Amino acid sequence: MKNNELIDTENKLIVGDCSKVMQHFQEEIIDLVVTSPPYDDLRNYNGFTFDFKTIATQLFKILKKGGVVVWVVGDKINGGRTLTSFKQAIYFQEIGFTIHDVMIYAKKNTPFMRSNAYTNCYEYMFVLSKGKPKTFNPLKEKTVRSGLEMLVTNKGANGINNKVLKELKEEKTLTNIWYYAVGLGGTTKDKEAFKHPAMFPEKLVLDHILSWTNEGDIVLDPMCGSGTTCKMAALSNRKYIGIDISDDYIKIAKKRVAQTEGIFV
Ligand SMILES: C[S@@+](CC[C@H](N)C(=O)[O-])C[C@H]1O[C@@H](n2cnc3c(N)ncnc32)[C@H](O)[C@@H]1O
Repeated sequence: MKNNELIDTENKLIVGDCSKVMQHFQEEIIDLVVTSPPYDDLRNYNGFTFDFKTIATQLFKILKKGGVVVWVVGDKINGGRTLTSFKQAIYFQEIGFTIHDVMIYAKKNTPFMRSNAYTNCYEYMFVLSKGKPKTFNPLKEKTVRSGLEMLVTNKGANGINNKVLKELKEEKTLTNIWYYAVGLGGTTKDKEAFKHPAMFPEKLVLDHILSWTNEGDIVLDPMCGSGTTCKMAALSNRKYIGIDISDDYIKIAKKRVAQTEGIFV
C-alpha cells in the first residue's frame, strides 16, 4: 500500500499493526474508539508488541472533534503495580486529549488472586475526548425508592437543612463504576469468542457505544481481538472498523460480526 493511500473505514476488519494501518485513515473520521491494549506483558498474544506512543498519536489524528476514546486497561501486579495505565493516561493528556473521565470496569465474579492484598476486581476505563464530547446519551437506572419523601433542598447560612415534601425521581443517571459478570454467559454467550484469551464483556462495549455515539456513527477498535466492539457496533446500527495484528483473531472477529448479519461463516 502506498504511503498516502486511504483505507475505507466502513464495516471493515483488517489484519495488521494498527500503528501502521491507522496511517491510512482519513483524518477526523472516527466518532468513537473502544479498545483494550495488551496489559504490560500479562499475555503475550503470540509475541506481538505494540507501539503505544504512535498508536496514541494516530488515535488523536483520526478522531473527530468531540470524538471519544475509551481505553480499557489494567496493570500488571509484580511486587507492586506497574501503573502503566496511568502513565498511558498522562501521555494521552500531553498530546491533547481531555481526560473526560476515569471510569471503573468492575468484575462481579473474579477469582481470588493475591495472598497479601485484596482480590483485584477492576480495570480502568479512561474516557478520553478530543475537546468536549459531542454526544452524551446518559444511561439510566431505576431508583431504589419512589413516591413522596421529605427531601433536603438547601442549606442556609445558619447550617440548617430545609426539607420539603417532594416526588422522588423514578430513574437516575448511572455512576461511573460499571459492574459486569465475566466468563461464559457473562462476557458473552458466544462460544466462538472464547478462542481469544481476553475479550470485553459485550454489554460493557454496548453501554459505551450507546453513551458516546448515535446511529450511523463510526466505531473503531484498533486492537479488536475477537471483535467484540465491532459486533456490538453492528448490532446497534453503527459502522465498525476493527484491526488486529493476529490473522487468527480477525478470523474469529469476522465470524462474530457475520453472525449479527445472519451470515454464518
Ligand atoms: C486485550 S486484547 C483485545 C481483546 C478485545 N477487546 C476483545 O474483546 O476480544 C489486545 C489485542 O491487541 C492485539 N494487538 C497487539 N498488538 C497489536 C498491534 N500492534 N496492532 C493491532 N493489534 C495488536 C492482540 O493481538 C490482542 O488481540
